[in-house]
Amino acid sequence: MNQHTNLPPIPFIDVASQRRRLGRAVDDAVKRVTDHCQFILGPEVKAFEAELAKFCGARHVVTCASGTDALTLALMAKGIGPGDAVFCPSFTFCATAEVVALVGATPVFVDVEADTFNIDPKGITAALATAKRLGLKPKAVVPVDLFGLPADHDAIAAVAKSAGLFVLDDAAQGFGATYKGRQLGTFGHATATSFFPAKPLGCYGDGGAVFTDDDKFAETLLSLRVHGQGSDKYDNVRIGMASRLDTIQAAILIEKLKIVPDEIAARDRAARYYAEGLANLVMAPTVPAGLSSVWAQYTIRIPGGRRDKVVAGLKAEGIPTAIYYPIPLHRQQAYKHYPVGEGGVAVSDRLAGEVLSLPMHAYLDSATQDRIIDAVKRVLAR
Ligand SMILES: Cc1ncc(COP(=O)(O)O)c(C=O)c1O
Repeated sequence: MNQHTNLPPIPFIDVASQRRRLGRAVDDAVKRVTDHCQFILGPEVKAFEAELAKFCGARHVVTCASGTDALTLALMAKGIGPGDAVFCPSFTFCATAEVVALVGATPVFVDVEADTFNIDPKGITAALATAKRLGLKPKAVVPVDLFGLPADHDAIAAVAKSAGLFVLDDAAQGFGATYKGRQLGTFGHATATSFFPAKPLGCYGDGGAVFTDDDKFAETLLSLRVHGQGSDKYDNVRIGMASRLDTIQAAILIEKLKIVPDEIAARDRAARYYAEGLANLVMAPTVPAGLSSVWAQYTIRIPGGRRDKVVAGLKAEGIPTAIYYPIPLHRQQAYKHYPVGEGGVAVSDRLAGEVLSLPMHAYLDSATQDRIIDAVKRVLAR
């Protein structure tokens, strides 16, 4: 029986509290757009891109219709296609590998590190041999800053440099995080992010962006997001997409970006509170020295085959949880025919059976976290 039914429900992600905080600012921003009626590539899109570039220090930001499109546009801009191998982790959201297949290239799955959940740079080296053995050209690596924690970008850059790989950072979950004092958005040749509502910087629909310091690459992205247009709008110079960030979403994001630093600090406080409360109880996530996470998810590990019982126990106590990700990509129907790099993906397999994400957002108060922590203690004691 749920002994907490008289307590308010706990949201997994609290978009409503943020909406209340933003109040009129968002309403006014939307109204400005509905007044000027420039719904596609209106002035707010450029203004938001400039703000984003300032925020993370990237030279160019090209917004688009989703995080998935951001990844796709970057691969297209690099000309990646059939016969090319693109290395990506198996323990991630499907879009990381989906875009590789969409452009006709071959995703080659690489394992992750158990303590960071991020791609193992040694695995990339091993997977190079796999790609060559299969007659594929090793072209790119797509590290993911999973759950908001930056991947090991220095080690990835070293492997990529020696193998001549293009690095596309999938920062869909990591926007706002830092690696050795530098904001994500400036690692690798390009970075993609997502403004899906549940993300650390989310809009009120779909949206995404590509960050790059490369002028020519940015120019190609601008063309690709509008059907591959050239200087003459009706003389298209390449095959592209219809992938713009709606002006209304840009207007909303301008307002939301203003509170992002404060929200990141609040998420970090919540993560530290969890870490103290759950110490010695579960395998809590850690942040390597010199890095910061934006805690897109707070993901603990429950080893020993007990995870699903803990999920059920927490559900009965009114605590929502989520499992990101229950099936690694190399085992999913759409992806299992793609190669796995030499060295295997044993950690990805293990994590899929152990991970459990707890409620995490910037509006989580300590009383709610105490309820969650106490419930975890009770469930684990059974
Ligand atoms: C790691 C990762 N990559 C890519 C994406 C795709 O972003 P979107 O949902 O905006 O297309 C997501 C979003 O869920 C993600 O988590």
